[in-house]
Amino acid sequence: MTGSPDEYARIAEFYDHVTVYRERPDVAFFIEAAREAGSPVLEIGCGTGRVLLPVARAGFEMVGLDASPGMLAVCRERLRDEPEAVRKRVELIEGDMRAFDLGRVFNLVTVPFRPFQHLLTVEDQLACLGSVSRHLAPGGRLILDLFNPSLDYLAKPVTGEEIPEGAEFSMPDGRRVSRATRILAQDRFSQVNQVELIYYVTHPDGRTERILHSFGMRYLFRFEAEHLLARAGFEIEHLYAAYDRSAYGSIYPGELIFVARKPVRPAPVPSSL
Ligand SMILES: C[S@@+](CC[C@H](N)C(=O)[O-])C[C@H]1O[C@@H](n2cnc3c(N)ncnc32)[C@H](O)[C@@H]1O
Repeated sequence: MTGSPDEYARIAEFYDHVTVYRERPDVAFFIEAAREAGSPVLEIGCGTGRVLLPVARAGFEMVGLDASPGMLAVCRERLRDEPEAVRKRVELIEGDMRAFDLGRVFNLVTVPFRPFQHLLTVEDQLACLGSVSRHLAPGGRLILDLFNPSLDYLAKPVTGEEIPEGAEFSMPDGRRVSRATRILAQDRFSQVNQVELIYYVTHPDGRTERILHSFGMRYLFRFEAEHLLARAGFEIEHLYAAYDRSAYGSIYPGELIFVARKPVRPAPVPSSL
């Protein structure tokens, strides 16, 4: 969501019910990262709190930043059902990851499940990493969670065909929802895919709806992301291919999960290349 209307608002109510989101195996990884870093943790693109709430339940003080009022509204509603101790540990802020100023620093900043890939230009990516760096204590860590672009997938022609995804799920009010995904366009020069997630909703009275969630997603290759992090002053400590901390290269395509550290002292600028 970069300067566009709140595209996530259309689907925010479904988000936590979508099978592929509900079953995403990343939550324990982010709880463990919080355990290693300690409070406070800033989660960027926290959405409905899919990751943020379990980390707060595990005892960590969380600040969640997201640009979508629709997603944050769902998160606030979920937070109301939490015990008071958890509610007190969470602060939610509407803001843009490219330019925010929270007036405090964190031991850990996380960006779970690819929000960074909604930034479509290098300028936006660097603006975000700069904002993150200003909010990290010296020695603090950033976890940047991206997908590793599959060359096989990228080589396929774009057909615009809808591909059904995940099992049908039910909403608490009885609506049934199935989902499909499609790539509308692929710009191989700017590395941006125009993605459409299509929600087919069947109401209890038989009425049907087709709801579109459209957005651009920029893919980053491993070394590109490493250079970007280095340009923003980070040191890369780990690169994982999966949330069980499997090393990059152990599975393909896997994920690109960077653990990057803000140096205690900034690195000297090289005098020549
Ligand atoms: C795929 S969702 C991930 C939500 C959550 N991190 C999770 O793991 O379920 C991407 C989130 O990034 C947020 N987002 C997109 N662009 C943003 C921006 N420029 N600044 C802050 N949040 C943004 C969206 O509103 C959305 O909630």
